[in-house]
Amino acid sequence: MKKYIKISVAAIAILVGTQHISAQDGAGLFKAKCNTCHMVDKNSTGPLLKGAKQKWTDAGEGELIYEWVKNPQALIASGKSQMANAIKSFSPTDMTPQVVSNEELDAILNYVDTYTAPVAATTASPDGTATATEVVVKPDYTENLTLFYWLFTGIVVLIIAILIISNSIKTLIKSDYFKKKLEEQASKKSSTSTTVIAVLLAVGSLMSLNNSYALTFMKAGEAEKGMPWLMVENSDIYFMISVNILLLGVLIYLKRMFNDFMQMARPQKVVEKPVAEKMKKINSILTDAVAIEEEHTILMHHEYDGIRELDNNLPPWWVWGFYATIIFAVIYILNFHLLQTSDLQIKAYDKEMAKAKIDIDAYLSKMAMNVDETTATQLTDATAISSGKAIFETNCIACHKSKGEGDIGPNLTDEYWIYGPDVKNLFKTIKLGTANGMPEHASKLNPVQIQQVASFVLSLPYTAGKEPAGEKYAKKK
Ligand code: HEC
Ligand code: HEC
Repeated sequence: MKKYIKISVAAIAILVGTQHISAQDGAGLFKAKCNTCHMVDKNSTGPLLKGAKQKWTDAGEGELIYEWVKNPQALIASGKSQMANAIKSFSPTDMTPQVVSNEELDAILNYVDTYTAPVAATTASPDGTATATEVVVKPDYTENLTLFYWLFTGIVVLIIAILIISNSIKTLIKSDYFKKKLEEQASKKSSTSTTVIAVLLAVGSLMSLNNSYALTFMKAGEAEKGMPWLMVENSDIYFMISVNILLLGVLIYLKRMFNDFMQMARPQKVVEKPVAEKMKKINSILTDAVAIEEEHTILMHHEYDGIRELDNNLPPWWVWGFYATIIFAVIYILNFHLLQTSDLQIKAYDKEMAKAKIDIDAYLSKMAMNVDETTATQLTDATAISSGKAIFETNCIACHKSKGEGDIGPNLTDEYWIYGPDVKNLFKTIKLGTANGMPEHASKLNPVQIQQVASFVLSLPYTAGKEPAGEKYAKKK
């Protein structure tokens, strides 16, 4: 019974240990205590917290920020803090006093200051429309590498152990003594040796599998980016954990086989057990219950109204389940909280959302690039018009003058149009050019840019300049 108590204590110790670690976890604390009113890098109910500590330190109030967080109103009332007075009217909501220790606050502020938004890597194209390429969702390679070393050591140790045991089995099988025994039990012979071969084959193939897999870890050209020499992905870690577990299984199996062989080598009578007998054995393995005839040996001494208690062992099936939960918990905590090889739900959700946003943006910008002279629409938003203006200034004023009043090219601000007043007409002229001197722009501008500059042209107010050319159209809004 003591054994289980020890195990439980160990399990609790592990849990308490992680609790302690999470007490220093600035991200967690920030989310739990401050995030309702503060954001890291944006003002919300409260001001952004990134750089707050620096700000207070610069003002010579680095220590007062602790007092502020613990009791803002008291600090304001004391009048000794300039920073408190400066920030107190930031929001009509007062900051509530926070229950945090100095260490916790350090952890929070440290988290906040070192936080970098998980942004998408974007490559800005010349027109300023950013096209998203990939989400930067990278595992922590340094941490993975450490884990990799451990798991690799585990694999090596297990393989050595397996080799030792399988060698012992081989020696045993080869020994004359064993051969003689085997002949005595001819019936069993074939099945055991095939199992040995099968197991050896399995181990061998596992080793070769593992080798070839490890080769794919190497990635050239990453070294100069301050990356560890080996880029271990999370999936590799999972793979290695599985290999470890598998090898452990094989080892246990071989050990048992070895024991069986030793058993066989010893002189004994082999009695074929009837099925009921076997069931009984399985049952007793699972429950470890003492047979009714033997119960007096485990009867406890107390008695209440004739009711007495048996001191049975805990049923092994239950104990195994208990062990399984402990192992599961350890793996879970390692995975999600300590090594953080996997993401917790919120982080996983955020990553999914970030990815989805990039997909959506990519889709939208692709759709935007799809415009042509049949689908162009007049843009009216300020950013499109100002991009259009910039494009106009670099590409068009040589011939149309800065206000569009015309010079080599016609006046673009009047009501007269040679090729039509619609944005689609303009799009086509700008894109393809004309025979009378308007150059094509398809090779210089992308469809979005053409649409922007056409919209800008249509937004130009009338400026007297070159005399009208083309037909008169009603002024278009
Ligand atoms: C109930 C909302 C609320 C919560 C929760 C909250 N704050 Fe605040 N905090 C504010 C407001 C509002 C201000 C601005 C002062 C004001 O308007 O009274 C502020 C100001 C601050 C400032 C000063 C910033 C500056 O630029 O000078 C710091 C530092 C700060 N909070 C830290 C924290 C920390 C750390 C936590 C979590 C432990 C936290 N706050 C939790 C609302 C909150
Ligand atoms: C090399 C000089 C030149 C440049 C550069 C030039 N244009 Fe033109 N543009 C012309 C000429 C010449 C015409 C008249 C073409 C015709 O009559 O066929 C014209 C015609 C046009 C028309 C048709 C006007 C109408 O009445 O239908 C539009 C719209 C136009 N230009 C816009 C632009 C824009 C926008 C740019 C810059 C992206 C630009 N142009 C750059 C010379 C130029």
